[in-house]
Amino acid sequence: MSFFIHESSYVEDGVKIGEGTKIWYFCHIQKGAIIGDNCLIGQNVFISDGSIIGNNCKVMNNVSVYEGVELEDGVFCGPSCVFTNDLTPRAEYPKGKEGHQKTVVKRGATIGANATIVCGHIIGEYAMIAAGAVVTKDVEPYTLMAGVPAVKIGTVDKKGNVLSYVYK
Ligand SMILES: CC(C)(COP(=O)(O)OP(=O)(O)OC[C@H]1O[C@@H](n2cnc3c(N)ncnc32)[C@H](O)[C@@H]1OP(=O)(O)O)[C@@H](O)C(=O)NCCC(=O)NCCS
Repeated sequence: MSFFIHESSYVEDGVKIGEGTKIWYFCHIQKGAIIGDNCLIGQNVFISDGSIIGNNCKVMNNVSVYEGVELEDGVFCGPSCVFTNDLTPRAEYPKGKEGHQKTVVKRGATIGANATIVCGHIIGEYAMIAAGAVVTKDVEPYTLMAGVPAVKIGTVDKKGNVLSYVYK
């Protein structure tokens, strides 16, 4: 298998890592995580047990991919974007895995820098989430979402070109 793990990163036993994937500085990958082929995992990324990352994904610096999060092929996670898996967490009453809600990011979608994805939602194929958005519902394919809470502001194509704005 030809993949690269920088010596500063800690990858637990039992992680599946695909061909050509590169894991850069200070990452922690928990046992049970699955990472596909040709992925780029940036600095200070945490990938938890039970999370799945497809082929050709880019997970930029400071992203945590929690249990219950699935990234399909070709997903781009901008720096410091945030996933969640517990809608109503309490330190004193942890729900465990059964109480977690899944997040699926479909093929080719992009999550902008510092965006937050509230759990329990599907981000459609090739959707584009603007920097700093807070996604609180399902996102249709090829949709550009922005704001807090995020709303549809336009449409995008496969390559990420903005095709239209809904309000212009
Ligand atoms: C959403 C985005 C794709 C729009 O790009 P664009 O088409 O060049 O947008 P414009 O700068 O022409 O802005 C269009 C409108 O959207 C607004 N807008 C742009 N980015 C926004 C954002 N992140 N959140 C909220 N509104 C935003 C602008 O203020 C503008 O509003 P107006 O028409 O009322 O003036 C881009 O701004 C963005 O957020 N990209 C993500 C970048 C990123 O996170 N990259 C990560 C890797 S480095």
